Amino acid sequence: MSIVFSEISKEFHLYNDQISYIIQILGNGELGNLYYGKRIHHKDDFSYLLEGGLRSLAVYTKENDYFMSPQYTRMEYPDMGRGDFREPAYEIQQANGSNTSSFIYRNHRIFAGKKPLEGLPSLYVESDCEATTLEILMQDQLTGMEMTLSYTVYEKYPVIARSVRFKNKGTKPVVLNRALSASIDLPDADFEMLQLSGAWSRERHIKCRKLQQGIQGIGSRRGISSAEHNPFLLLKREQTDETHGEVYAFSFIYSGNHIEQVEVDTNDMARVSVGIHPDTFSWMLRLDEEFQTPEAVLVYTDQGMNEMSHVFHELYRTRLARGVWRDKERPVIINNWEATGAQFTEDQVLQIAQAGKELGMELFVLDDGWFGKRDDDKTGLGDWYVTNFEKLPEGIEGLAKKVEALGMKFGLWFEPEMVNKDSDLYRAHPDWLLCAPGRTPSPSRNQYVLDFSRTEVVDAVFDMMDQILSKAPISYIKWDMNRYLTECYSTDKSPQDQGKVYHQYILGVYSLYERLIQKYPEILFESCSSGGARFDPGMLYYAPQAWTSDDTDAYERVRIQYGTSLVYPVSSMGAHVSVVPNQQVGRVTPLETRGNVAMFGAFGYEMDLQCLTDEEKDIVRRQVAFFKEHRRLLQFGRFYRLQNPFTENDAAWMTVSEDQNEAVVGFYRKMGVPNGPWIRLYLQGLKENAKYIVNDQTDQSYFGSELMHAGMVVHREDLCGDGGDFCSAVYYLKKQA
Ligand code: GLA
Repeated sequence: MSIVFSEISKEFHLYNDQISYIIQILGNGELGNLYYGKRIHHKDDFSYLLEGGLRSLAVYTKENDYFMSPQYTRMEYPDMGRGDFREPAYEIQQANGSNTSSFIYRNHRIFAGKKPLEGLPSLYVESDCEATTLEILMQDQLTGMEMTLSYTVYEKYPVIARSVRFKNKGTKPVVLNRALSASIDLPDADFEMLQLSGAWSRERHIKCRKLQQGIQGIGSRRGISSAEHNPFLLLKREQTDETHGEVYAFSFIYSGNHIEQVEVDTNDMARVSVGIHPDTFSWMLRLDEEFQTPEAVLVYTDQGMNEMSHVFHELYRTRLARGVWRDKERPVIINNWEATGAQFTEDQVLQIAQAGKELGMELFVLDDGWFGKRDDDKTGLGDWYVTNFEKLPEGIEGLAKKVEALGMKFGLWFEPEMVNKDSDLYRAHPDWLLCAPGRTPSPSRNQYVLDFSRTEVVDAVFDMMDQILSKAPISYIKWDMNRYLTECYSTDKSPQDQGKVYHQYILGVYSLYERLIQKYPEILFESCSSGGARFDPGMLYYAPQAWTSDDTDAYERVRIQYGTSLVYPVSSMGAHVSVVPNQQVGRVTPLETRGNVAMFGAFGYEMDLQCLTDEEKDIVRRQVAFFKEHRRLLQFGRFYRLQNPFTENDAAWMTVSEDQNEAVVGFYRKMGVPNGPWIRLYLQGLKENAKYIVNDQTDQSYFGSELMHAGMVVHREDLCGDGGDFCSAVYYLKKQA
């Protein structure tokens, strides 16, 4: 058991080989945090770490006791209104209008393993010995409200998973106006805060700033996790880099509105808050009702950011993602979207599939445009059946069978949460939109959001999808979601329950995913939201891969995939080669470079392959063959970031097999450098004393130590595009027998 409770000091010590996390039941029954960071040896009493004393203007918890002032104490799950003037973790509005609470320790239990969170994505264990969980039951004696704080510490990973469950055991309804998943007070604020932020087409760019007194943070009020801010932040020391130094990372397993922020107070303590965004949340809890928050994942390491990423990658790949595809190599995809848009004929798409087959690709995806009256983005969403038999004479079933007859698997695009006004679904159920009473819903991409907080809406969409899936051989679904939520009002709910709609919407999305994956466990799901606007850990629980960005330009993708790799495993990043000039940025990059970037992902192509010249086809054939040969290594190897495209002209990364016998290295240059310096890549993760052969050139071999410390020389002739703009190289390293 890696959670110990000391009866004498009333302390919980959660630990494994790498981390310690210490909570104390304070003198007044509230909870304080004594320590979170690198593992420290266990002893029964760490209470000296709780500091207090008389200070001007401070508010104290008891008369004549000048020790504990909430404002100066590292609180475990802070309240509001009683002298802790920093960001609270929760707020409960009582029937009398008061929002002051005082939760006191009641009891706790420690057990092996980890419980799932009902209706929500969460980390799991495969055997109870993988983790230990602590649940602390707290109660507000005045209102009867209960709160259970849950902590799971994994044996193998420097990880703590936190969530909170509220229950109204009082006599009157209350409203939860804020219910964060985690709050932690760190004793100093000498950190930089790093976030993954951007916009459509430039998602998850790395942004970093030094913490300052006050509040700094990110979040989403867009209804989904968003392209603007990923539900993640980390704090690192100024000297921390990829290989050294302290990192405190916070990731939120949720796909709706979220907040991640750090408040630095007057005394340089840093409070990190993670959870559902309180601005768009209020949850009426009637008697005996419960509210379960989503889960926050805390990772600590003193080994730098690559190590942090290894923890997230392994954890999210193997203890968050589920299903038959979790550990399976992903098929090479050919998708018709950038080639045809929504206007295509069956012949056209079959020819693309056929060309894909000839080049070694494995799965054809029919994107947007196959359903209802869909020829552009004004019609059809919501009608998940074929009505245009000129386009698809034998429907999806017929097309899927023809694609299978070519020796390819078949995949299909859906956008289940959306509706166009010009659709049978809207005409039959105009009240199924999210829409404020008496107001016109705001359009975006000519589409509107279905009210997924309503079960009958989710049921209706499930039935339509089920009809298709039960008849046609469909191996893959791209589940898209192409607008943000507005007028988030549900016509079937009381005024008091409208504050629930954003969260219930996401629960509806999760429930549809769950029903589909339960009924069709063999289907590979890829989530998508105008590219990567919902690339979050919540989605990974249902769909093991996500379309990383609509931006398929090679240079932009290096940055997007580099940023995404901070948290998300390579196998989860949908990455396709597309045509030049690139549709998003008009840039021309070598075909080799486009492939060299995309192969570090769930690889595929998104173009009309028939338009390629013979020479280009040869390049593609070689790329696909190389990818297939090294697919396990590329998708499931240990990924190291080597050179940062956000700060340098050159970028590099590599992936190493578990046994360290093989590696693939990718090097990417932005602008060609005239008469530039020699290039050396300092590799990582190899065996120091093993000898490696590079690109099968058996006349030379190099010790891992050489490649890591003296560096691997990148020769100009290795670079496609002659070392000019956007050139690149990929190297395959194999340990000498
Ligand atoms: C979104 C997706 C694209 C494509 C289009 C289809 O933008 O990100 O990949 O599927 O929708 O409309």
